[in-house]
Amino acid sequence: MNLEPTREHKFSFGLWTVGWEAQDQFGSGTRPPLDTVEAVERLSELGAYGLTFHDNDLFPFDATAAQRRAEIDRLKGALESTGMIVPMVTTNLFSHPVFKDGGFTSNDRGVRRFALRKVLENLDLAAELGAPTFVMWGGREGSEYDSAKDIRGALERYREAVNLLGDYVTDKGYNIRFAIEPKPNEPRGDILLPTLGHALAFIETLERPELVGINPETGHEQMAGLNFTHGIAQALDAGKLFHIDLNGQRGIKFDQDLVFGHGDLQNAFSLVDLLENGGPNGGPAYTGPRHFDYKPSRTEDITGVWDSAAANMRTYLLLKERSAAFRADPEVQAALEFSRVDEINQPTLNPGEGYTELQADKASYEDFDTESYFGGKGFGFVKLQQLFIEHLLGAR
Ligand code: GCO
Ligand code: MN
Ligand code: MN
Repeated sequence: MNLEPTREHKFSFGLWTVGWEAQDQFGSGTRPPLDTVEAVERLSELGAYGLTFHDNDLFPFDATAAQRRAEIDRLKGALESTGMIVPMVTTNLFSHPVFKDGGFTSNDRGVRRFALRKVLENLDLAAELGAPTFVMWGGREGSEYDSAKDIRGALERYREAVNLLGDYVTDKGYNIRFAIEPKPNEPRGDILLPTLGHALAFIETLERPELVGINPETGHEQMAGLNFTHGIAQALDAGKLFHIDLNGQRGIKFDQDLVFGHGDLQNAFSLVDLLENGGPNGGPAYTGPRHFDYKPSRTEDITGVWDSAAANMRTYLLLKERSAAFRADPEVQAALEFSRVDEINQPTLNPGEGYTELQADKASYEDFDTESYFGGKGFGFVKLQQLFIEHLLGAR
């Protein structure tokens, strides 16, 4: 069993994750700031291949042009000396007071124009660093009061913004795609595009839908009580899984951003199985970065920060190994067959068949034995799930 993370695994971390000083609503930070160069070096030593960041993780909101350049150059130096890359860049449109009612969808038009300018600057930086993915998490795009936000107008402004950004990367010839990150609430009472399904529907209304996909986060879908693995499968079905934020969440509550697997472990297992084995002929269904967007708990000092960073990758690799064992087990294969899991991939209609032929087929309806489903014809799903759990527990 090889549980050593390597570059080939494509593990990446946000600078804001290991760099979080652990301030929350009820208390100040419990850790000192982490220097960017140290973050790159430590993550590289641990086996990650990439670092991601918001513009203001790297330099402050009010940085002068010279300060901004100095921080970018320090990052570039660290990337060069370690071989790490920047697979994704994102913009902070949520921390500064100017964004208190959002960026792209603030009721204040001047703020919207300012937000667009900030993102355009950051797109130039993403292009400079060769980042192919640009995440947009609209944490402040939303409202607390239904009376205070015209949601249809706000969606129209969101669309206007994303269309403009699409024009920009196209005209500049940047090799950058956008990934919208949904979240149901927090910091706003209700956030626009709250789930991946809402985002997928919105993307189809854009001028260049091919440039825009999604960056779903484990905990955000689970905050809405949704099944993350189901959502990721639908994103893959739509060809829109441009990036992924892996972490842990325990049920419908505030955004916990726990270590991957430290929340709903069964769902984490089925997710890894889908990502690693859910593609054509059992290959990977997703080949992009395995990006951890977690927060080292407030209880931890810097040792706990690096332990938790390593834990994300180790848990992922453990689940990958467990899912390979699950799939290779002959008893599992028999149970999958009994449960007709693969039969879902057979078209319901015969080749060339339409409704006329279906209506003419007496076996499909008039002669179909529906009675046999009462007290018989069980699917055996529970037995299959027990095998899944036993593999997860390392009992097989
Ligand atoms: C959250 C979000 C953020 C975003 C990040 C990218 O936990 O609410 O995940 O961390 O992912 O800001 O823009
Ligand atoms: Mn989160
Ligand atoms: Mn995230």
